[in-house]
Amino acid sequence: MMSQEQNDLITRVGAGTGAGELMRRYWQPAALVAELEGERPIVPVRLLGQNFVIFRDEAGRVGMLDRDCPHRGADLAFGRLENGGLRCAFHGWLFAADGRCLETPAEPVTSKLCQNIRQRAYPVVEKNGILFAWLGEGEPSAFPELDCFLAPDAYTFAFKGLIECNWLQALEVGIDPAHASFLHRFFEDEEVSQSYGKQFRGASAGTTIPMTQILREYDRPVINVERTEYGLRIIALRELDGERTHVRVTNQVFPHAFVIPMSSEMTITQWHVPVDDETCYWYAIFTSYAKPVDKAKMTAQRLELYELPKYVSRKNKANDYGFDPHEQKHETYTGMGTDINVHDQWAVESMGRIQDRTREHLGQSDKAIIQYRRVLREQIEKVRGGGGEPLMYLDAKSARAIQGPGTMDGIGPSTGWETYWMEVDVARRRGAPWMAPAPSAQEGDDKIVQLVAAE
Ligand code: FES
Ligand SMILES: [Fe+2]
Repeated sequence: MMSQEQNDLITRVGAGTGAGELMRRYWQPAALVAELEGERPIVPVRLLGQNFVIFRDEAGRVGMLDRDCPHRGADLAFGRLENGGLRCAFHGWLFAADGRCLETPAEPVTSKLCQNIRQRAYPVVEKNGILFAWLGEGEPSAFPELDCFLAPDAYTFAFKGLIECNWLQALEVGIDPAHASFLHRFFEDEEVSQSYGKQFRGASAGTTIPMTQILREYDRPVINVERTEYGLRIIALRELDGERTHVRVTNQVFPHAFVIPMSSEMTITQWHVPVDDETCYWYAIFTSYAKPVDKAKMTAQRLELYELPKYVSRKNKANDYGFDPHEQKHETYTGMGTDINVHDQWAVESMGRIQDRTREHLGQSDKAIIQYRRVLREQIEKVRGGGGEPLMYLDAKSARAIQGPGTMDGIGPSTGWETYWMEVDVARRRGAPWMAPAPSAQEGDDKIVQLVAAE
């Protein structure tokens, strides 16, 4: 059982806290590129309990600055974009994207005040629809060569959504393979041909059996968890009969992302980004290994649920997530409609803003969560103790070694599924029009040996 102190250590993210200092060693998704596409490209951003403003200046440069004006603290997110920077609406001080103060127009013409003023600016990098920000001190980590970053823009789609609870419980639902058999259970399967852009609605790889049917009928997965160079690989096995086993391979990419299969064509890479201790955003990049992504359709599907500009779900705590007891009896496990994002949101928000882990009771199905917390504590201690850089803080060379990661959802042989899933994954990635890097036969063999050894 966890103590309150341990729970605080792994959940709280303000400057100087355990998890907070760890998180400042990684790039954080800060906004969608789409948020800067309107007429006024200025977005207020709250990340790790700190307030920032992101803007695109007239020359197209993106800047992220502390949000309180260094003059007398007014909110720069209400500023004006002009004269090559962002101008505070209070007395007109003007700031460049790199934080330099360019003008202090209320001061005497001879004033040199401006030269001594600098607003803190943070590095921002654009990656396939998401602006990533670096809040830490020192040299930023290199980006790993994950498929979601390597795929050309046309093969990806980015979106986000607000969740009103701590980031850790939101992440933990993504590394919990058992919940999908219950929380996301549908009493009837949809036509798999109607499944584009929807999770769990397609057929499992190599079959015509809908994922929903497998999840519903086989609800006690055997879960294997393996430590990898990027975090954890989680394999959920559902044995259908003596011959065939459903294999679902997902990944936890340290510190706060997961990579999971969405359909035989796409994966989802999803980060759970702390806004502060009690709120987080999920940011996702959907990556296609086949056709370019139908971005218009993906956007329209998601805008049915999420309301801009804050990407808040229309079904939320205030309206009981649309709970309908009749639906719960006849159609879905939750009675909250068919969008699985709503189910997950209810599950994690209903635990309270920060789950009280001193009262929980973990079982076998929580194996990946237990492992993840262990890694998280180790890495927090490493950073706190000055013991070097944590897992997934990367230099250019080590970043190139982190690829994929492999995912799979399919039915394979009960004996030999270890080789089967890798073959399916490698074939899919090798077949991608943009040529995702796939392990060579030699590397693949090494991984198979590791997997067997890990059981
Ligand atoms: S507070 Fe911003 S210019 Fe005065
Ligand atoms: Fe879920």
